[in-house]
Amino acid sequence: MDINKLATMRLFFALWPGEMASAELAEAGERLHGVCGGRRTRAETTHMTLAFLGEVELERIGDLLALAGEIRAPSFGLRLARFGWWPHNRIVWAAPDETPAELTLLVDALRGSLLGAGFRFDARPFAPHVTLLRKADCGKLPLPTGVIEWRAEDFVLAGSVLGEGVAAYEMVGRWPLL
Ligand code: 2AM
Repeated sequence: MDINKLATMRLFFALWPGEMASAELAEAGERLHGVCGGRRTRAETTHMTLAFLGEVELERIGDLLALAGEIRAPSFGLRLARFGWWPHNRIVWAAPDETPAELTLLVDALRGSLLGAGFRFDARPFAPHVTLLRKADCGKLPLPTGVIEWRAEDFVLAGSVLGEGVAAYEMVGRWPLL
């Protein structure tokens, strides 16, 4: 896609799992799908959003890349051991049983830098989750259990583009955690 043809791009910062964790998340999604139905997220698009910016003018993307490049935060392990369903948006998710302090640190650093640079983002309290199913209905059904271990070694700036009715993401930038 030629991003220069757009005036804005829908952007978010996220953690993107490696191949192994992606495959395990897809497998969990499949098991959950058997209970809750809905639409599975594809393995290559599964992620944890850190800060959701929404539409950003292309001319401001350089500022975003610069501020992300200044972030110094440690890498960490994530242990996703909770699966759940939110009735209000009908998504089924995997979440850490405990939010690692380093994850909170990273989100706070990002949000602080975004505020400092005058970017708007969704400022609701951070609820770490990885969406596995959309348009799902689990009701009170018991959900399968499982544990997915994932080492977060970098974070990304992703842009979402709607291709042929399904979400596709473009990596705009990627920065290491230390
Ligand atoms: P979700 O998985 O909980 O729907 C790309 O759309 C990513 O940004 C998704 O992970 C999505 O979270 C998140 N996202 C979309 N709209 C959002 C919003 N208004 N606030 C926060 N996150 C949002």
